[in-house]
Amino acid sequence: MIIAANLKTNLTREKTLHYLQEVEHFLEQNGVSQEVLVFPAISNLNSHKGQLVVGTQNAYPAINGAFTGEIGYEQLEEFGIKTILIGHSERRHILGETQELLALKFNFYKNLGFKIVYCVGEPLSVRELGHEKMMEYISAQYEGIDTSYENLIIAYEPVWAIGTGLTPTLEEIDSIHKELKVKSSAPLLYGGSVKVTNAKEVMALENVDGILVGSAALYAEHFCTMCMYAQELDK
Ligand code: 13P
Repeated sequence: MIIAANLKTNLTREKTLHYLQEVEHFLEQNGVSQEVLVFPAISNLNSHKGQLVVGTQNAYPAINGAFTGEIGYEQLEEFGIKTILIGHSERRHILGETQELLALKFNFYKNLGFKIVYCVGEPLSVRELGHEKMMEYISAQYEGIDTSYENLIIAYEPVWAIGTGLTPTLEEIDSIHKELKVKSSAPLLYGGSVKVTNAKEVMALENVDGILVGSAALYAEHFCTMCMYAQELDK
């Protein structure tokens, strides 16, 4: 299974270091052999040795250059970062990233051999239009994306479930994952209000290959418990 923590715009450099050390120690002590990914805030990126893999929440599709406020491959290479999150709903909706830009980023980092966690998911207004419209909306988020890329992980994160404490039912998660798996055989994570209290049942679903966790992952202890659940399921 794949357990990923998106720390978003949280924690300082020092706190992130402690966080990574705590998680790393836990994985080692408890023999967790699952794939664990952590995406710290960009200013907190650093070289990391160990079992868990540190990835970036964003990067511009360029080696370097005049892209004020962005980082490129050169800044990732310094720390040996080879994993990137692309298409997160906060970047689509708050930062206004278009599907065109996301496809550019995807192809740029794909050509560099990065592991890509690519996010898709619908806002509530789209979900309310019914299943067909919702699937059309999600399908458009696959445009320009090589769904057969060997280093691809997809994360389904319904926008209305992010940071709200709301989640689709287990049946809904499993059935939409089943539909999304037809589009790509890449591992498919679920994200959106995953907590210690629901992580195990979500991960146990047939069509779920892991989880992408935001707020609950800010507590290293909670994230570690979820890693332990994944180990117990060992799918
Ligand atoms: P929450 O777990 O806080 O709902 O966030 C999910 C998310 O956006 C992970 O990328």
